Amino acid sequence: MKMISLIAVSTLLVSTLSANEMAIKQEGVKYIKILGKELKTNLVAHMKADPTGVSAMGFCTGKAESITKEINAKLPKGVSVRRTALKTRSEKNSPDVTDIKVMEAYDEKAKAGKLDPKDIQVLEKDGVYRVYKPLLIGKACMKCHGDESKISPDIKAVIAKVYPKDMAVNFKEGDLRGVIVSEMKK
Ligand code: HEC
Repeated sequence: MKMISLIAVSTLLVSTLSANEMAIKQEGVKYIKILGKELKTNLVAHMKADPTGVSAMGFCTGKAESITKEINAKLPKGVSVRRTALKTRSEKNSPDVTDIKVMEAYDEKAKAGKLDPKDIQVLEKDGVYRVYKPLLIGKACMKCHGDESKISPDIKAVIAKVYPKDMAVNFKEGDLRGVIVSEMKK
């Protein structure tokens, strides 16, 4: 009898903890999707209108940062969302130590062909919850992040001019490109 109630109590504890984590995850994913969708929709529209990628490049260089700021300004107090990567294009998207740890784990999975884009990681750091979603390289990314020798001279010229420290080339489809991370104060 005693045994049974102990099990019941511990199950309850585990389930309340994970319910909390589930709620954090859900909320974080909601913010991640706001930024992800906005950027992707614009990117795809530009690529469609101009398949060379030059127009989309103009969008990424000129708007990705300001759109991120605009979205953050509308989020609830204590909440933010951003993109980062192990190999960044823009230095403004540089990762911190925690970002690097999470991305290195994702990268290992990606290299083993086992990274699910829905592999959401939740953690807490200095009183802030962080929710991570991996971004994988797909066909749509190759014109600007793929094999350097296949990137058009026009796009290369923009990269060289705007991002002299670019590291975000030579990716293959299925590689980890980076993450979107949302942060929520506890
Ligand atoms: C038309 C060119 C272009 C295409 C196509 C493109 N990107 Fe980028 N990407 C850029 C530029 C320019 C930046 C730097 C500006 C920014 O977005 O902050 C960038 C930045 C990023 C960043 C932010 C981290 C960093 O390195 O600065 C991520 C993550 C990213 N791209 C992922 C992707 C993914 C995933 C795809 C495919 C779905 C993709 N990109 C397609 C041009 C492109």
